[in-house]
Amino acid sequence: MKKRLLSGIKPTGGIHIGNYFGAMKNMVDLQKDYESFVFIADYHALNQIKDPKELEQHTFEVAEACLCVGIDPKKTVLFRQSDIYPVTELCWIFNSLTPMALLKRAHAYKDAKNKRKPINMGLFDYPVLMAADILIYNSDVVPVGEDQRQHLELTKDIARIFNNCYGETFKMPREIITNQGEIKGLDGRKMSKSYKNAIGIFDNKDVVDKKIMSIVTDSRGISEPKDPEACNIFALHKLFSEKELPEIKKRYEEGSISYKESKEILAENVNKFLDPFRKRKQEMDSNPEIVRNVLKQGKEKALSAALSKLKEVKAKIGIV
Ligand code: ADP
Ligand code: TRP
Repeated sequence: MKKRLLSGIKPTGGIHIGNYFGAMKNMVDLQKDYESFVFIADYHALNQIKDPKELEQHTFEVAEACLCVGIDPKKTVLFRQSDIYPVTELCWIFNSLTPMALLKRAHAYKDAKNKRKPINMGLFDYPVLMAADILIYNSDVVPVGEDQRQHLELTKDIARIFNNCYGETFKMPREIITNQGEIKGLDGRKMSKSYKNAIGIFDNKDVVDKKIMSIVTDSRGISEPKDPEACNIFALHKLFSEKELPEIKKRYEEGSISYKESKEILAENVNKFLDPFRKRKQEMDSNPEIVRNVLKQGKEKALSAALSKLKEVKAKIGIV
């Protein structure tokens, strides 16, 4: 029997190559080896998005993006978090067991507090909902980006607290953290929607060309040796120019490549890489029922798994 994989993606905006290499690629690569469950975490996004149209649209687009980058509905159950109501019920059960002190350690909460941002209960409780997401499916492995490591630790804490109180019920999931590390954006900071330094996976050729040509570099001329490791263009070559990488590195070090040429090579490779994603998106945009049907079928399978676990949990806590 295959082990079960589960992961979630928050629909807070367009998917960029940081999301792809940092989180989604692992879901695609691993789906052949696991019984795979991937969902669109719309209730987690509710913290950030209050416009109903926007939430609905992002949820659809992220589901579509999953299919375009290679999540295969024959191998992966793809669904919306909000379609699985036992998850929010389990979240409430966990709320009654989770010490506030545990959640006060969470990075997202501490960060918002330090920045004096308004904090709602959804933000504070985010890790508990995530624990419910993961534990309700008896998940064995959870591929996530590095920034989610602490959430997985909190999930395990919550599983232990429940098991100690009511007897062995939840399995300890294992995180699979991508070994890509943090993907740098056009300005050298972490690629992120909020920094506006991202290349979207569906950006068209003109947009990609323009973004890459605008990467800021130092003023070294063509014949001056350059440090590849200090260059934002080279950081992206590592993802998109695997074949030419040793040659490009050599040319940086010996001073035989201009930043302009380096950008041109990168833009060509990025466009080549994104082309199949763009083509699949065109097909799906002209037939959105494909995405809706996948989500509908996903809902049936995920709901049945979640309901059976919730029944077991409710019997243990005395709500029958
Ligand atoms: P953003 O910072 O653009 O708002 P999210 O926080 O929605 O992105 O990211 C979704 C997931 O994608 C994150 O949990 C993280 O695992 C991954 N991710 C996002 N940006 C990067 C990045 N620059 N490098 C690696 N992984 C990333
Ligand atoms: N918190 C994750 C993120 O921001 C998304 C997410 C929600 C998730 N629930 C999950 C990921 C369960 C893995 C498992 O990227």
